[in-house]
Amino acid sequence: MMRFAFLLLVISTDGVTSKKVCSYLDVLDYLNLTKDTSAFKLTRPVLDYTDPTRVELDIFLYAILALVEKTQTFIPFIWASMKWKHEGISWDPAEFCGITQIAIPRDMLWRPDLFIFEMTQKDDSPLNLYILVSSDGTVYSEEDMKVVSTCKMDVHKFPFDTQRCNISVASAIHHVDEMRLLPCSNSSRATQFSREVLKTQGEWEFMQLSVSSFNITYNNRQWENLVYTFTMRRRPLLHVINFLLPVLFFLCLDLASFFIADHRGEKLGFKVTVLLAISVLLLILNDILPSMSNKTPLIATYCIVIFAMMLLSLLETILVTHLMEKDSVAQEKVGPADDWQHKKEKMKTQDGTTEDKKQTSCVCICQVSAAEKQHELLPMAEEDNSRIQSGDSQVLLLILEELKELQKTVDLRLSCRLEGGKSSLWAARINKAFLIFYVTTVSLFLPLIFIAWHT
Ligand SMILES: *[C@@H]1O[C@H](CO)[C@@H](O)[C@H](O)[C@H]1NC(C)=O
Ligand SMILES: *[C@@H]1O[C@H](CO)[C@@H](O)[C@H](O)[C@H]1NC(C)=O
Ligand SMILES: *[C@@H]1O[C@H](CO)[C@@H](O)[C@H](O)[C@H]1NC(C)=O
Ligand SMILES: *[C@@H]1O[C@H](CO)[C@@H](O)[C@H](O)[C@H]1NC(C)=O
Repeated sequence: MMRFAFLLLVISTDGVTSKKVCSYLDVLDYLNLTKDTSAFKLTRPVLDYTDPTRVELDIFLYAILALVEKTQTFIPFIWASMKWKHEGISWDPAEFCGITQIAIPRDMLWRPDLFIFEMTQKDDSPLNLYILVSSDGTVYSEEDMKVVSTCKMDVHKFPFDTQRCNISVASAIHHVDEMRLLPCSNSSRATQFSREVLKTQGEWEFMQLSVSSFNITYNNRQWENLVYTFTMRRRPLLHVINFLLPVLFFLCLDLASFFIADHRGEKLGFKVTVLLAISVLLLILNDILPSMSNKTPLIATYCIVIFAMMLLSLLETILVTHLMEKDSVAQEKVGPADDWQHKKEKMKTQDGTTEDKKQTSCVCICQVSAAEKQHELLPMAEEDNSRIQSGDSQVLLLILEELKELQKTVDLRLSCRLEGGKSSLWAARINKAFLIFYVTTVSLFLPLIFIAWHT
């Protein structure tokens, strides 16, 4: 009982001694923010209209969601924090239980009408519900937003490129005498902080975030413009594996095809296949790159030169094949057909019975082979052999003659082949010269273009 009374006493004395108000609502009541708030958002919150409102701005990078070459779009996810002074709002924290800050709904106070120049789509990410007001009237507002912005990308060095994209912030209607835009952090601080908070970068490696300020003049008035420049470097690995290396491999295949034998259409077929494979790869490139007229991307040069080299080598192969074909046709004409004709004529001049002789010789050969077969089949019939030998010695002589003739032709043809004919000689020369030209061009071009890529 005694204890309870003591407790009551303590409470009552406490209530008497600290007559402090400790609720946010009291602060708002004191500021007249609970009754009619429209006065607080009607106009720029300055007591003297000639004073500019100083808005301090910070933008940090949370994530690089996309950076698309084809559509020239840059989609970062950024965190923007703003700070300005609302003159007319102030309280003494000592009077309100030491309350120095209160959070109020964002649409209760005036807010700077900032917008982003490059933004091409309205931001649909959820807004922060509250803004912070401190006892001296400074208002803090923070926003996360996905900015779909346009960015003029330079794809000259794709895929070893570095891109710079701007996000420019300015007031829509307040010119520089009414509103000043000031960066809160300098470039090095912004870069460092962005590195700390950056969650995902994807294909891109964040390098730098720099801040600069411009005054743009329009209708004889100046607007202050804060430009945040994001510098990002592409990670080229995927494109190297996906595109540059395969093209290089096909080039190697094309080079290797010089060691495929020239005759018949095998080499030609191989080269056409390689060329087709490269054209499929070119389609991929068409998907990635925008059609920019001012400057040819190095990767296009790379493809066009390699494609052209392959095309030239294909044409060269066609030429060489044609030359060899021509040669073999000529040989065939000069070869057996002509020989026979020649021989026939020679025989005709010797005696009129060419056809007969040929016929007989043929028949003889048949007979001989038949005899030989018989000889093989029937070794018993040896007594007949002598008779046949004496009777067919004439025929054997004829055969010998024929064989000699044949050997001569074969010799002639062999020597012909060794010489290779005029056309195949040229074909071999062209082949060699083109191989040297091909290898030199490729070994000059590849280092040059890689140097161009890396500077
Ligand atoms: C709130 O309004 C009352 C009159 O309606 C005025 O006397 C008082 O000064 C105002 N408070 C502030 C902080 O302006
Ligand atoms: C980005 O802003 C810088 C100034 O900070 C300017 O020099 C550059 O041209 C701008 N780039 C683009 C793509 O607008
Ligand atoms: C940037 O600001 C930080 C403090 O925020 C300061 O230490 C640093 O020296 C500044 N850098 C430059 C280049 O002004
Ligand atoms: C823009 O104009 C304001 C006011 O005239 C001036 O203080 C500021 O230095 C200017 N900014 C630039 C970048 O010229």
